[in-house]
Amino acid sequence: MAKYNHIIVTGGAGFIGSNFVHYVYNNHPEVKITVLDKLTYAGNKANLAGLDEDRVKLVVGDICDKELVDQLVQEADAVVHYAAESHNDNSLENPDPFIQTNVIGTYTLINVCRKYDVRFHHISTDEVYGDLPLRKDLPGHGEGPGEKFTPDSPYRPSSPYSSSKASSDLLVRAWVRSFGLKATISNCSNNYGPYQHIEKFIPRQITNILSGQTPKLYGTGENVRDWIHTNDHSRAVWTILNDGKIGETYLIGADGEKDNKEVLETILELMGQPKDAYEHVNDRPGHDLRYAIDATKLRTELGWEPIYTDFYDGLKSTIEWYKDNRDWWEADKQAVEANYAKKGQ
Ligand code: NAD
Ligand code: DAU
Repeated sequence: MAKYNHIIVTGGAGFIGSNFVHYVYNNHPEVKITVLDKLTYAGNKANLAGLDEDRVKLVVGDICDKELVDQLVQEADAVVHYAAESHNDNSLENPDPFIQTNVIGTYTLINVCRKYDVRFHHISTDEVYGDLPLRKDLPGHGEGPGEKFTPDSPYRPSSPYSSSKASSDLLVRAWVRSFGLKATISNCSNNYGPYQHIEKFIPRQITNILSGQTPKLYGTGENVRDWIHTNDHSRAVWTILNDGKIGETYLIGADGEKDNKEVLETILELMGQPKDAYEHVNDRPGHDLRYAIDATKLRTELGWEPIYTDFYDGLKSTIEWYKDNRDWWEADKQAVEANYAKKGQ
């Protein structure tokens, strides 16, 4: 039985939020879900298509709207907060919506959750910890202790996006300590899977190939990300929401470190293209080198383990999803690529 019977999922029409809604819908039929989503360019009603409206209600609105948030939260048992501006490259062009949604939006939600003593789970990112050196630059190839992010790693975000997420984490921590907010925080590594916006690395390259365009690798392609299937993230969040200790931070990751070049070559191989059929483009300013998560706390204290551990298989099914759902992304493709082209990316 779930501890919470009516949850609000902010950002539930975006990539990870909608996957979480599907996860709860399919596995916990007793739970009613209200999705609060502004439907920005990254939100899409179609991500919730086919779900019974008696169990999943979409409210189109802004998490910065105090009155709306107040009205919704007083009827719920818990808030799972995914809504955010999420793309680093966009934050370098215009940080404004990042500060507004990620900082002020989170502030609005925690104030209302405090008022009604409602359980709050804050979704955050490993990027708040900055980056790690590449393993080849570390003694012993970085296999020793302290070579991954842990819940005790210092906050040192690099981009407007990651600094806005770091700010929101700190607000949540302070509201727990000062006001007794019943909150937990999770910081996850890079997700992949269905419904991810085509501005992001993996879907951008898949849809480039599907639309006859050349895949684009930033800089040298040596940068490392720690990939996790979004379904494993959803199960981890559900576990923390129900069994996590109030006030605690849990890191979510599935030991999926890969450099970008390797990921792109695998996509090309899976799509029947030569491994070198891509071009190097301008690097991202301030580009973080490597992320890696130590999820020991989540594994040992809450018993979570990832299931989608075969990255090759996970990528294969993600590619199939983009092939089968061209209507979902095709209309956006030209504008997304035109924006990248302006920056030589
Ligand atoms: P996304 O950009 O795909 O979706 C964000 C959703 O939030 C969209 O549906 C959008 O409409 C909604 N939204 C934006 N501003 C809003 C506002 N002011 N009010 C209400 N709704 C608003 O993002 P994502 O990749 O699914 O990321 C979701 C969350 O997970 C974010 O908090 C992000 O920081 C975090 N996260 C993402 C990853 C990743 O790999 N994508 C990894 C770790 C953590
Ligand atoms: O680590 C968690 C974070 O992962 C989340 O907090 C963010 O919301 C999410 O967007 C993601 O951030 P990244 O910046 O790592 O993801 P992105 O998909 O933009 O890029 C992944 C890597 O691929 C990064 O090193 C930049 C590179 N890249 C990206 C694009 C779009 C390319 O080489 N080519 C590209 O075309």
